[in-house]
Amino acid sequence: MASSLPLQASFRTSLPTIISRSRPVCRFGQRQRLAKFAVGSRRTISSYGYTQAKALVYSKYGEPQDVLSLHGHSISPATGSSVVLRMLVAPINPADVNQIQGVYPAKPEMTIALGTSEPSAVAGNEGVAEVVSTGSGVKNLQRGDWVIMKSTGMGTWRTHMAVDESQLIKIDNKDGLTPLQVGTVSVNPCTAYRMLLDYAKWGFRGDEWFIQNGANSGVGRAAIQLGREWGLKSINVIRGRENKEEEQKLRQSLLDIGATKVITEEELLGREIKDQIKEWTKGGREQIRVGLNCVGGKNATALAKFLSPGGTMVTYGAMSKQPIALPASLLIFKDITFNGFWVSKWSDQHPDLKKQTVDDVLRLTREGKFKDIPVQECRWGWKTEVDTLKSAVQGTLGGFRPGKGVFVFEET
Ligand SMILES: NC(=O)c1ccc[n+]([C@@H]2O[C@H](COP(=O)([O-])OP(=O)(O)OC[C@H]3O[C@@H](n4cnc5c(N)ncnc54)[C@H](OP(=O)(O)O)[C@@H]3O)[C@@H](O)[C@H]2O)c1
Repeated sequence: MASSLPLQASFRTSLPTIISRSRPVCRFGQRQRLAKFAVGSRRTISSYGYTQAKALVYSKYGEPQDVLSLHGHSISPATGSSVVLRMLVAPINPADVNQIQGVYPAKPEMTIALGTSEPSAVAGNEGVAEVVSTGSGVKNLQRGDWVIMKSTGMGTWRTHMAVDESQLIKIDNKDGLTPLQVGTVSVNPCTAYRMLLDYAKWGFRGDEWFIQNGANSGVGRAAIQLGREWGLKSINVIRGRENKEEEQKLRQSLLDIGATKVITEEELLGREIKDQIKEWTKGGREQIRVGLNCVGGKNATALAKFLSPGGTMVTYGAMSKQPIALPASLLIFKDITFNGFWVSKWSDQHPDLKKQTVDDVLRLTREGKFKDIPVQECRWGWKTEVDTLKSAVQGTLGGFRPGKGVFVFEET
């Protein structure tokens, strides 16, 4: 599995450095030292260099509400090529929830490395962290640097972690960037970037289109902005809202970040859209080269029908949980190609390209050309209750949310 290996490696590296608070392993009087920061005012790092940490873990698959628990443990000072990190921001992506439910293809390895009573995995796949301390063999990182994870599956829903430097990507220039921007760059923007660039031969003349559903998703919003930057026009399909004022606001928010056209699912499936799209694309002379499918079902079938001959549909999500039915004519007469994209696999196969992609999105962000996604922050301090954290995760797949859930870690 693309993402189980990094997790395995991460735990292997961390193993000697982690001391569970529920099952303490004490050497040379460590019990007393650890007790020092267990009472009174809390300090992240004791005078002996131990870091107190909390992680959202699960030992069996199920609904986040039922299976997540908050596990406290201590991390010993970094040695060799390992570093100790403090998480700054970690988003709550749909795939994180699917992974906890056990329905995601990448399964995390469950281990007792953090001293949990049952073999467990730390949830979360994306985020940005600050380097707190480095082992003597660490070459490219220093205290205060910001890093993101090289692969998915490393378990980012935790206050701190110990990890080998080889598993991290350093943010070379964090000036002008916020933790939220860096902590959400590696999954959604990278997915949109690669799907748009790698599945068509664009002329970049300003007269080409892509069409996408799930346009209000993190990936969808990233695609709109990258498309605008590259001169690609876009037709963006959203789910309509019962409250039409809200729907209008949503349309406008996508137009504001560079969407050319925004339509609802209902409009996509309606009768008038065919003529409308013909008019927008100047009678079809402007080609719709790529379709990005986040949703599946009837919506995806309709989307595919609007692709120009020779176009490509890239499926990356299945939010409706419905399979895609494809009319044979699209394959026989229009020569439409159907592909899938998985950013976890792509990142593992192209680590250098991942860094370049991340750097380019961060450059655009710094220049004000790539705007933040709307978010619902869940602040995670030392005293935050597990129920608060779990409820931030639970609503993720429901949709109709004002923004993506993100954990924002306080100084703990
Ligand atoms: N293959 C990959 O490499 C890759 C990478 C990143 C993401 N993904 C996948 O892409 C999808 C979106 O991820 P994200 O992080 O961008 O999502 P997100 O920001 O959390 O947004 C989720 C989106 O899904 C829409 N949605 C939810 N249920 C739906 C339904 N039944 N029918 C239609 N739309 C529905 C929501 O629409 P509303 O705005 O109307 O609520 C919302 O726009 C997920 O399936 C995720 O797993 C795949």
